[in-house]
Amino acid sequence: MKGIRLAYLNGQYLAPDAAHVSVFDRGFVFGDGVYEVIPVFGGRLFRIGQHLARLDASCAAIRLRNPHDGGGWQAICTRLAESLGPTDQSIYLQITRGVAPRDHAFPPDATPTVFAYAQQISYPSPKLVADGVAAVTCSDIRWQRCDIKAIALLANALLRQEAIDQGAAEAILLRDGCVTEGAASNIFIIKEGLIITPPKGPYILPGVTRDLLLELARSHGVPCAEATIHESDLFGADEVWLTSSTREILPVTRLNGKLIGDGRPGPVHARMFALYREYKQAFCEGRVE
Ligand code: PDD
Repeated sequence: MKGIRLAYLNGQYLAPDAAHVSVFDRGFVFGDGVYEVIPVFGGRLFRIGQHLARLDASCAAIRLRNPHDGGGWQAICTRLAESLGPTDQSIYLQITRGVAPRDHAFPPDATPTVFAYAQQISYPSPKLVADGVAAVTCSDIRWQRCDIKAIALLANALLRQEAIDQGAAEAILLRDGCVTEGAASNIFIIKEGLIITPPKGPYILPGVTRDLLLELARSHGVPCAEATIHESDLFGADEVWLTSSTREILPVTRLNGKLIGDGRPGPVHARMFALYREYKQAFCEGRVE
């Protein structure tokens, strides 16, 4: 596995190619598990409390015991991060319900399988951030518990591929005529200076980057709201962005082949991206948590 030096599997640290799980693992057979993606900046785990709280919520939602407490996860993530050195990286971690004979009902005594690794983040290029990316709208064909960070991502993969096939970087998902999120990102629009993102609920993942942006907007007096975004609001927006731990804040400048605003990333993006970078720098220097 290119770019991965160390894997964690069920208590052991291994070369990535030496990490193996049973074909009877319920993660493999049913997609029965949850995951997290945690950025590491300046050797520090970014927003670790928020990521681990979301992991706890995902575990509780699928009735899976979280095998580690916060300290346990931090020790694993830190050791993996050290294997890559001081580069911006993300920790991928997943917990599945473990190995058991195939039966939809939960096995009474399976041990969860825990797998994690660190990988360098490959950000969108500066040119892409400067120009913005294309997106397409797609019907949100996923289930009704998109708030769970489940490893079963077939619908998300189909939707992202649909976007790629149309020459776009992301699919913006519509459910009952309203924006939910992207295939692997949260969505923001700007209308007359107001930042708007859909409220949390069962149809979106509560993104950690999303919450940080709202926090930064509120603390710097930038008007923002968590409100329903109708399809017409999306097409009539002055700016559209997508956010995630690995794509940060990426402007969308073309939607279904039409320009958003004047087709260039807008001033609110510039302001919020600057605030985000300042915060990240302060985090790397240990000035904020
Ligand atoms: N995905 N919504 C979905 C469906 C996502 O998969 C992601 C991130 C987000 C953004 O969440 P955050 O800001 O906490 O990264 C929203 C990760 C990066 C992934 O699956 O690789």
